[in-house]
Amino acid sequence: MKKYELKPGLFYVGIKNPTLRTFDIVMRTDYGTTYNSYLIKDEKNALIETAHHSFFDSYIESVQEIVDLNTIDYIILNHTEPDHSGSLNNLVKLCPHATVVCTTPASIYLKAITNNSAIKFQIAKNGDTISLGRNSLQFILAPFLHWPDTMFTYCSEMSTVFTCDFLGAHYCEDAIVDSKIHYVNKYKHGFLNYYNDIFSPFKKHVLEGLKKLSGLPFDMACVSHGPVLTSSGLLNYAMDSYYALSNTVMPQTPKITPVFYCSAYGFTRKIADAIVKEINKISSDYNCQSYDIIEHDMNMLIKLMNESVGFLIGSPTINRDTVPPVLSLLSHIDAINSAKKPVGVFGSYGWSGEAIPTIVARLSSIKLNPINSGLKINFNPSISDDDQIKAYAKDFTDAIASYAK
Ligand code: FEO
Repeated sequence: MKKYELKPGLFYVGIKNPTLRTFDIVMRTDYGTTYNSYLIKDEKNALIETAHHSFFDSYIESVQEIVDLNTIDYIILNHTEPDHSGSLNNLVKLCPHATVVCTTPASIYLKAITNNSAIKFQIAKNGDTISLGRNSLQFILAPFLHWPDTMFTYCSEMSTVFTCDFLGAHYCEDAIVDSKIHYVNKYKHGFLNYYNDIFSPFKKHVLEGLKKLSGLPFDMACVSHGPVLTSSGLLNYAMDSYYALSNTVMPQTPKITPVFYCSAYGFTRKIADAIVKEINKISSDYNCQSYDIIEHDMNMLIKLMNESVGFLIGSPTINRDTVPPVLSLLSHIDAINSAKKPVGVFGSYGWSGEAIPTIVARLSSIKLNPINSGLKINFNPSISDDDQIKAYAKDFTDAIASYAK
């Protein structure tokens, strides 16, 4: 890649991957991504982040265009997920004088990622600085943005902060800096999806991170995915968006209590309808409403599920298992922020009804609170099932009452 100097002595040495469409198995990347890495050339030379291992050859070529690898003194790793640390093992073999600077948790993870006991580490504590000559680097611990290992690196002389994943975007154009990109709306779409996928479970930590950044004068944020952000470009948009998206308060009383279900022959739907009726009879404040999963937009259902104070989910049993749309919805639970959330589980079954215990076990394993062992009804619910439906609805609302306290 052609040498790109962002500021005197600060070079972009990242990798572009415009054709990537799935990142980390679960993220759609409609606009590709970049693995950004930066090189500060000074009396001592420092590389900040590395790149995905599969791009090592072109990555190292970019670095070598600027400095002799023997003269790299520091490799700064703000975060150790392998899209940033993946080239480390190959890199340290070629940079014999380099010390890896990272947080304590990062050093633990890196030892397990690289299995390389020859790597020299320097642990960064909050506020520590190292001098490169004309420039210095200060380390600001920023845990859970988005792993426990994360930190920001700040260079006051360059008015630049290196934030790794924070404020990034899975977005790739030829341009390296925000002011040069052509499709700003597409960037914003990618940026918001990235926040939702990566940072939305860590809102409290996002606000803490923004507060740490607000105390620093800087006009450039060197993120590790997507365009470099500048004060004359999209930096304010990115920071304001993170603030607005994270500064939300979870409702203490339910706005909607959703009942999600799938139903092959209408039997599970009948249970869902009976539960809705019963819960709204207990109190109209629950605003209980049912949603046939295959008839609704999945993103809307995910939002309802994660913003609810509790929800119910119903599945028939087909071939001894839960049906795929139910599994798909449950795979999007924000487990980090949903600990102990009450969830009712129900379904009609014909032979043995494995769907119900399967869902209950999954919810328990991710630390939510499935109500009892679920509600199973054989084939077509009848009047003789009313009492157990009523009792289950009552147990669910009792659990919501204590969860919302
Ligand atoms: Fe870009 Fe958390 O890795």
